[in-house]
Amino acid sequence: MCGIVGYVGERQAAPLMLDGLKKLEYRGYDSAGLALQHQGINVIKAQGRMDILEKLVHSREHVGNVGIGHTRWATHGKPSDENSHPHCDCSGQFAVVHNGIIENYLELIDELKSSGQQFASETDTEAVPHLLSTMWQGDLLSTLMAITPKLEGSYALAVMSEKSPDELVAVRHDSPLAIGIGDDEYFVTSDIRAILEHTRDVIYLEDGQFARLTPRGVQVFNSDGQPAEVFPVHIDWDSEAIEKSGYPHFMLKEIMEQPDALRNTIAGYLAEDDEIRFPDVKLDAGEIKDISKIFLVACGTAYHAGLLGKHLFETMLGIPTETDLASEFRYRNPVLQPDHLVIVISQSGETADTLAAMRESLRRQAKVLAITNVVGSTIAREAPNVIYTKAGPETAVASTKAYITQLAALSLLACYVSRVQDNKWDKFKTLLQGLREVPHLAEQFLDKHKDSVEKIAKDGQHWRDAFFIGRGLDWAVAQEGSLKLKEISYVHAEAYAAGELKHGTLALVEEGVPVIGLATQQSLIDKTISNIKETKARGAYVIGISQFPERMTDAADVIIPLPKLPDPLMPILSVIPTQLLSYHAAVIRGCDVDKPRNLAKSVTVE
Ligand code: M6R
Repeated sequence: MCGIVGYVGERQAAPLMLDGLKKLEYRGYDSAGLALQHQGINVIKAQGRMDILEKLVHSREHVGNVGIGHTRWATHGKPSDENSHPHCDCSGQFAVVHNGIIENYLELIDELKSSGQQFASETDTEAVPHLLSTMWQGDLLSTLMAITPKLEGSYALAVMSEKSPDELVAVRHDSPLAIGIGDDEYFVTSDIRAILEHTRDVIYLEDGQFARLTPRGVQVFNSDGQPAEVFPVHIDWDSEAIEKSGYPHFMLKEIMEQPDALRNTIAGYLAEDDEIRFPDVKLDAGEIKDISKIFLVACGTAYHAGLLGKHLFETMLGIPTETDLASEFRYRNPVLQPDHLVIVISQSGETADTLAAMRESLRRQAKVLAITNVVGSTIAREAPNVIYTKAGPETAVASTKAYITQLAALSLLACYVSRVQDNKWDKFKTLLQGLREVPHLAEQFLDKHKDSVEKIAKDGQHWRDAFFIGRGLDWAVAQEGSLKLKEISYVHAEAYAAGELKHGTLALVEEGVPVIGLATQQSLIDKTISNIKETKARGAYVIGISQFPERMTDAADVIIPLPKLPDPLMPILSVIPTQLLSYHAAVIRGCDVDKPRNLAKSVTVE
């Protein structure tokens, strides 16, 4: 959600900023801007996508070896040129980019206005440069340290000033920020993919830490102003992983990468001898045996992965399990005990609600385990136990390969707990066998069926409403399928437990309405098929997804057949056609697939 990149060094900052911002555009894309230091501060910013800013920057020469840039996802103040970052004080001597929300900005602005400051935007961020200018301490970092006690909310800030032209200063408070270390050049960024081309050595700032970047080096300070000990980490992401590599969209590339993402995640933890090892899980056997209740807490697609976890832990292991939306969990006063395990799931590891839910669980002394895709993310660093999904960087706003690897990680975790608890291990052995096969089956499915799913989705041009239905785990996948269709194609979609349709929703089914009927659960197949038939009898156009295609001939207009796997693993395969349907429906409707309207990849504000 919003992206920050800053540079100090010997090179021209403008091209580096533009390049970095393009890599961050997936995080927010309603406006962008940059500020350069050259005989004063020069700000160039514009509403709209990065190509508009790029044209503006290229329309004349912009020099400067120190710069900050920002790509915005609006929270306070509509997308407009004025509301774009960087923001300056009245004299134009301070420029600031900000991720997060300054919650007390109205009070601050009132105070600043009464001392004569004039504001040019409707943003919360603009309070910051005005505070810097009115509270100037003769040194940029000291001034930033002096103003932060006045700020409430979350912020990652990068600041420059013509009063101190060869430096950038930055602070992190509940919004991620990292420093990139190059050769006599330094970067600050909210997301390391902006700088990976230039350096792979980074320092992740801790909450409350400040940094000063000059061409001579980086200094990091704790919130009390004392120098902090820092531990640079080396990032070994393949740069290919953050490029489209010939695909028209990141989403399609990421769908096609799913077999490898599964392979890497499963092989990362499951040894030849069926031993499962999670190197970053520190819970001992006694603690695992004692778990009396599990909570799965997450947002969006990650929450849908949690629904599968509930099934595995509850129906297969017999451990009472709740799945909670993080935005609700954090405020619902959950009853937690030391023998409860809270599993937070987050691709980015930065989702504000999930992070807050995790901190609340730790405060309430529950055991906490995080499943995340991003090493070095806030959730990964703060969680006492971590399982990394090894999906590689996910760039499209629509989460695909992260979800599928979350399912794999949860399945492995259920097997691991079963082993430690000595609980129904034989049943889980079949799951392990299925997990070994699933990457290959996913690959086979994509090779064989991706074109036919594209043909089916052609009809998506005319869709206005769609229904995804299923029972049990199929209902969990239906919820994910419906979210995906909504978010990228803007087709109104609903997910329903198939047995619930006749309690109301069936009234909406009329001639030609698309119903995506998921029927993969052997134990529920007859009942699910009979519910699907109820929609067909009312005129629905049924797209059936099943590992029992022969059973669906009377129930569906078209059938997408799936390879066979044990019921609990079927979501890993059955979600793939729903992703492809959504993708192609969005493409045919002319939607901006990777950057759907109003959304951003990583939601670091509430
Ligand atoms: O990074 P996270 O997994 O914590 O993100 C959670 C949701 O914001 C995310 O899954 C969102 O729902 C996706 N856009 C769905 O495709």
